[in-house]
Amino acid sequence: MHLTVVTLFPDLVEALYAGGIAGRARERALIRTASVNPRDFTRDVHRTVDDRPYGGGPGMVMKVEPLLAAIAEAKGASPAGTPVVMMSPQGQPFDQALAREFAALPGLILVAGRYEGVDERALSAVDWEVSIGDYVLSGGELAAMVVMDAVIRLLPGAVGDAASCAQDSFWDGLLDCPHYTRPETHATGEVPAVLRSGDHEAIRRWRLQQSLGRTWLRRPGLLAGRELTREQDRLLQDFIDNLGIDDPACG
Ligand code: ADE
Repeated sequence: MHLTVVTLFPDLVEALYAGGIAGRARERALIRTASVNPRDFTRDVHRTVDDRPYGGGPGMVMKVEPLLAAIAEAKGASPAGTPVVMMSPQGQPFDQALAREFAALPGLILVAGRYEGVDERALSAVDWEVSIGDYVLSGGELAAMVVMDAVIRLLPGAVGDAASCAQDSFWDGLLDCPHYTRPETHATGEVPAVLRSGDHEAIRRWRLQQSLGRTWLRRPGLLAGRELTREQDRLLQDFIDNLGIDDPACG
């Protein structure tokens, strides 16, 4: 997969590849990465990438010409079928479903805006606008890094144990179940007996029940409009009936 970020701060984005899953994915050539700096497409001595907004008001707006030239350069170096994604709080909310959709593409060009915004006409070259949440960052770089991290870990071979990816929160639209490792006993509590039982079927049921219960307690909106299987429905009902009786480790 070919990942390009259009950014005035390529060093910031490079930090994503300093280690971890993204760094290893690049070492193993699962991804190719590039950045294109709009400043390299300016023609004035000051290499101006921003200007005052028409209509007045505070802040600066990124100029359309360098941005479009940088996007064109990125497109020229990307595989056919690579969309241009503008990071913006005005965009479609980023979620695991969109991460999966992006991970199936041959490439992504992520445009990180700076300053108060970008000239609206730059959107003529944009296929998607994507937001990582209802808050305003000082630039799109961190948002682009969030998107890339979520996408890269879905690429085959990127995560050591593919099953751990499948178990992640939101993989199936549910929150993750609790996890434990040694020691078995600690001042703050015990590892639930079922996880030590060796009964794989009981463990699967417990984990599914915890996922359903946590989602019901913490993010009920994720369950709204979702058709539960008979097993899921029964497990969730048991979870709800036993709230306050068992310790569901959901606190
Ligand atoms: N740029 C600034 N804030 C952002 C956000 N919340 N999501 C995506 N891009 C952004």
